[in-house]
Amino acid sequence: MDTSSCFSVVAAAVSVFTVLWTLRDRCGSGYWTAACGALSGALSGALGSCLYLNVPPAVCGTALLTCSFILICVTERRVKLLPAERRAVLVTGCDSGFGHVLAKRLSEMGLTVFAGVLDVNGAGAQRLREPGSENLQVLQLDVTDSSQIETAHRHICAQVADTGLWGLVNNAGVLRCPMNAELHPLTEFGLCMDVNFLAAVKMSQVFLPLLRRSRGRIVNVSSMAAEVPMTMFAAYGASKAALSMFSKVLRLELSVWGVSVVLIQPAGFRTNIFGNSDNITRYRDEILAAVSSVAREDYGEAYISSLPSSLSRMSQQSAEDVSPVVDDMCHALLALHPKPVYTPGRMAWLLPFLQRCCPTAVFDAILMIVPRHTDHEPAGLNRS
Ligand SMILES: NC(=O)c1ccc[n+]([C@@H]2O[C@H](COP(=O)([O-])OP(=O)(O)OC[C@H]3O[C@@H](n4cnc5c(N)ncnc54)[C@H](OP(=O)(O)O)[C@@H]3O)[C@@H](O)[C@H]2O)c1
Ligand SMILES: *[C@@H]1O[C@H](CO)[C@@H](O)[C@H](O)[C@H]1NC(C)=O
Ligand SMILES: *[C@@H]1O[C@H](CO)[C@@H](O)[C@H](O)[C@H]1NC(C)=O
Repeated sequence: MDTSSCFSVVAAAVSVFTVLWTLRDRCGSGYWTAACGALSGALSGALGSCLYLNVPPAVCGTALLTCSFILICVTERRVKLLPAERRAVLVTGCDSGFGHVLAKRLSEMGLTVFAGVLDVNGAGAQRLREPGSENLQVLQLDVTDSSQIETAHRHICAQVADTGLWGLVNNAGVLRCPMNAELHPLTEFGLCMDVNFLAAVKMSQVFLPLLRRSRGRIVNVSSMAAEVPMTMFAAYGASKAALSMFSKVLRLELSVWGVSVVLIQPAGFRTNIFGNSDNITRYRDEILAAVSSVAREDYGEAYISSLPSSLSRMSQQSAEDVSPVVDDMCHALLALHPKPVYTPGRMAWLLPFLQRCCPTAVFDAILMIVPRHTDHEPAGLNRS
């Protein structure tokens, strides 16, 4: 083999290695392993066809090395983090779940953290006050209560008056009990809208002056359900879709102020959002009391009673480790160049992608084979 062929083979090896190296932290999941394999194959294929077309090997090798170099530059830009010192972040919904872990992580990284909690005397808030987190302050903050938002705002203003607030993470959210849209009481739609959407709007409006001062960031925690129509998730999905669209509009509007807006769309993590067995029993009683007699007749009591137990099933099927979400939240807050949208979790990227690419009829057919959350069927289906 002559020198220039050797050079092109080495260049191909270097570029395959570069691809694997840049994707290294994502190779844990099957999709990324497959993507790495496909990319390596494509590179080797490109080299093969170059040689086949009689392009001089030295040119192929140089082209591959240039691509690797660009890939490294782009990746490094993405990975580079801002210093944590003198940055303050407010996170809502820190009693449990993502918010709780994020607040601890940010405080360990040396940021000043204002952790908003629904219940300042609750167990979650107590755990945040444990020693070792001196730069973390727990604040009573029910995001649906304007006076609590004002109080938190005054408190934070007094502390960060000179530097401003670097980040606001609109994380507080409720799922309630997923069920058929026809059966879902209007009050439940209202609850989802209030906590998941209107509260985030209010929070953003109140805190934007502080965020503009530091040219900081808003991170809105939405959901895959905002983009993908999932049966039983009409109320939650609609509230998150409203949040997602507002975030996208705000991203454009705030770019002139240098404020970044980032959306996190997780899917399938085991947190308190699915409630406990008490919650499930309570939902069952509430639904049975709220449904109309026609609906009770057509769907049947067995079906309606089975709906809340879907929560425990979903919880069991969800991933226990929430660190992919928290990693993405940290990246969104501190990366030099945050991405506009992050999609941690199984299917969180794939399903929205398919939804955008497939004709509606095809995607609907795909959704119908996604596992169902109840074994029961509406009673009336068998009659007609
Ligand atoms: N888990 C997932 O797979 C998943 C998927 C997509 C999106 N998300 C979103 O991720 C966010 C965090 O959820 P999570 O999974 O970490 O669930 P979580 O453990 O229930 O965390 C949500 C937190 O928000 C709090 N909260 C509820 N209502 C509030 C209010 N009015 N004011 C202030 N705080 C309030 C909750 O307090 P209590 O614990 O006292 O109720 C809880 O601490 C939510 O916006 C959720 O919609 C989660
Ligand atoms: C986050 O969502 C809220 C509610 O939809 C919206 O008002 C706010 O502008 C969003 N934040 C950003 C930075 O887009
Ligand atoms: C679930 O029940 C617990 C008490 O067992 C309560 O503190 C909590 O607020 C309930 N969660 C929801 C979402 O209703």
